Amino acid sequence: MGAPAHRRDRLRRRGCHPIGIFSGFVGDQGVRLWGAEAAGRGSGPGDNAASLSYGSVGILHGSKSYLLQDRDGQVVGTHSVSAGLDYPGVGPEHALLKESGRAQYLGVTDDEAVAAYHRCAEREGIVPALESSHALALVDRVAEQSGPPGLLIVNLSGRGEKDIPQLLERERLQLGEHRRPHG
Ligand SMILES: Cc1ncc(COP(=O)(O)O)c(C=O)c1O
Repeated sequence: MGAPAHRRDRLRRRGCHPIGIFSGFVGDQGVRLWGAEAAGRGSGPGDNAASLSYGSVGILHGSKSYLLQDRDGQVVGTHSVSAGLDYPGVGPEHALLKESGRAQYLGVTDDEAVAAYHRCAEREGIVPALESSHALALVDRVAEQSGPPGLLIVNLSGRGEKDIPQLLERERLQLGEHRRPHG
């Protein structure tokens, strides 16, 4: 309402896609729920956006949930290859699902998400959003833990054409690093 447009956008962006698909199954104890978090480039402050894995309980934008914050309660910087996941908090529904054990949340690094993006595009001809690529990157890990036989549903929240400039820039930077003389 009163918040600037970018802030309003962020307020909607704290796990509503997974909550949307979880809502159809949350009452069915025969279905296990898994969420992917942006583990970015590591576990250090400012290197990820995985508030359920690395955060603690706090209040941001009026909601109490897990938050990436320092000891004084100041929100810390975040990083994710995916702009849509680059946020220091998470919807309180996910905090409840985590604490009750109903859902499990695993971290997916930038590299794993980008690899899953390419794998899906090459094998399936579907270019997934980088956000959804985090979920795709979990498929093997979840399949291993669940054991056969089973049906795995992955929520593809959007398309990845929007992410091509970001991926090109990432590759350009990585190539630059390779070319730089060691010393
Ligand atoms: C394609 C896509 N998926 C997922 C998200 C993340 O939103 P949420 O955390 O609400 O699921 C975004 C946010 O911009 C997005 O663009």
